[in-house]
Amino acid sequence: MQEGIMQPHRAQWKTRMGFLLAALGSAVGLGNIWRFSYLCYKNGGGAFLIPYFIALLIAGIPLMILELGIGHKMRGSAPMSLAKINPHWEWVGWWAVIFVMFGIVLYYSVIISWCFNYLLYSINLAWGDDPNDFFFKKFLGLTSGPQKIGNIRSSILFSLALVWFLNWFIVFRGIEKGIERANKIFMPLLFFLTAILVFWSLRLPGALEGIKIYLKPDFSALARPGVWVDAFSQIFFTLSLGFGIMIAYASYLPRKSDIVHNAYTISFLNCFYSFFAGFAVFSTIGYMAHHTGAKFQEVIRESIGLAFVAYPKSISLLPFLPQLFGILFFTTLFVAGLSSSISIIEAFTSAVMDKFNWKRKNVVTVLSILGFSGSIIFVTGGGLYWIDIVDHFLSHYGLVMVGILEAVAVAWIYKAHRVRDYINHISVLHIGRWWDISVRYVVPGVLLLLLVNGIVHEVSHPYGGYSWITIILVGRDWLIYTLFAAFIVAMRPWKKTLHIE
Ligand code: TRP
Repeated sequence: MQEGIMQPHRAQWKTRMGFLLAALGSAVGLGNIWRFSYLCYKNGGGAFLIPYFIALLIAGIPLMILELGIGHKMRGSAPMSLAKINPHWEWVGWWAVIFVMFGIVLYYSVIISWCFNYLLYSINLAWGDDPNDFFFKKFLGLTSGPQKIGNIRSSILFSLALVWFLNWFIVFRGIEKGIERANKIFMPLLFFLTAILVFWSLRLPGALEGIKIYLKPDFSALARPGVWVDAFSQIFFTLSLGFGIMIAYASYLPRKSDIVHNAYTISFLNCFYSFFAGFAVFSTIGYMAHHTGAKFQEVIRESIGLAFVAYPKSISLLPFLPQLFGILFFTTLFVAGLSSSISIIEAFTSAVMDKFNWKRKNVVTVLSILGFSGSIIFVTGGGLYWIDIVDHFLSHYGLVMVGILEAVAVAWIYKAHRVRDYINHISVLHIGRWWDISVRYVVPGVLLLLLVNGIVHEVSHPYGGYSWITIILVGRDWLIYTLFAAFIVAMRPWKKTLHIE
């Protein structure tokens, strides 16, 4: 590798607001709306906010500062930034963008497609009086297990094509004209829609019962390690950390940018959004419990069931314009999901452009076709099982491992204080020595604990009651193949000269 030759001009965000909205668009996703609410409910109601907040402060924000700082300093996507730290670490950047692009986003875009179908179903409340049967049998055509692939569901395939078209269209147009512009529409729309949903549902009878369940703390839950594991993995997933996204987004910031301020803004607004959206979810469910006289425990379900079974059920019961409520709810999910999915397509595209110097338009087009084709496995009758397994492995292990490796590369190999000096030099808000301690010890330490805890659980019984062979072939091997691909890509020579900072 040679030093010194300047990179050709790199695209830039037009405004700081544009960058913030895009980063927030990535962070605020499907996970904020129902995954967060469900986790609160499952893990001691309001008491869950304590580990959640601690996870945000001790791991989320320091890593957010790290990802933004390193992307900004190295002016490159995740693989390029890591290669500039040390060429032996380039594969970590590739691994992140590869398993997120050819893993997480493949099924994530399928869930966005369901939201689109449900948006249309809302027009005539097509799920009828048995939304459970409708969702699993009629809509998904769920088979008896992951080995039984079944048929491709044509209605989902149709909306999947729409989702990939939008992904393609937005990223194809580049940073300023595509991603920035789209988020300038998406994010205000998202906040507006969410606010309507919250105020609407808070006025329903029984809403307060729901809110009580949401916020009433059960402090004994804090003694369960599982609650802490959930809090840390949710913080990671929700802030889009370990995806290589924030690194790429920060690389398009102008030289003078306040990294620390941006990191705080994105992280707090994202978590506030989750907390706020929780009011809509819980008051609607509270209304349903009140209306049907059922116990709260009977109406709330696992995350996916919450959005596609419990929620439609309560929508049907609404006294006033249920169709409109349904349309607003599923549009909210759709927009939240889409602004996240484009972010990883951008992270992957910028990685390929950095390394091979290919043209954006070609990369995005090929990638969208591959993405659409790869998503098809999740559109089959066995798709839901596949989503469940792949999601479990990639978000519990992939993201966590990337987080550890990233922290080690930056804080130990490159040295935390060098990054801190750089960040403090350009930021108005300064970070102190605590940050070094956090990224050197706390972040990798906590993530390692999560990893070990997860693996111990994993080997004691197969995840979700699936057969071992399925778990190995679908879950574990997905991680291994993407890792393998990352090594191969990292070994290819750079078409651009790396300008070592
Ligand atoms: N942060 C998002 C959420 O909470 C998840 C996410 C961000 C994501 N970027 C992504 C998922 C890219 C898939 C692909 O839902």
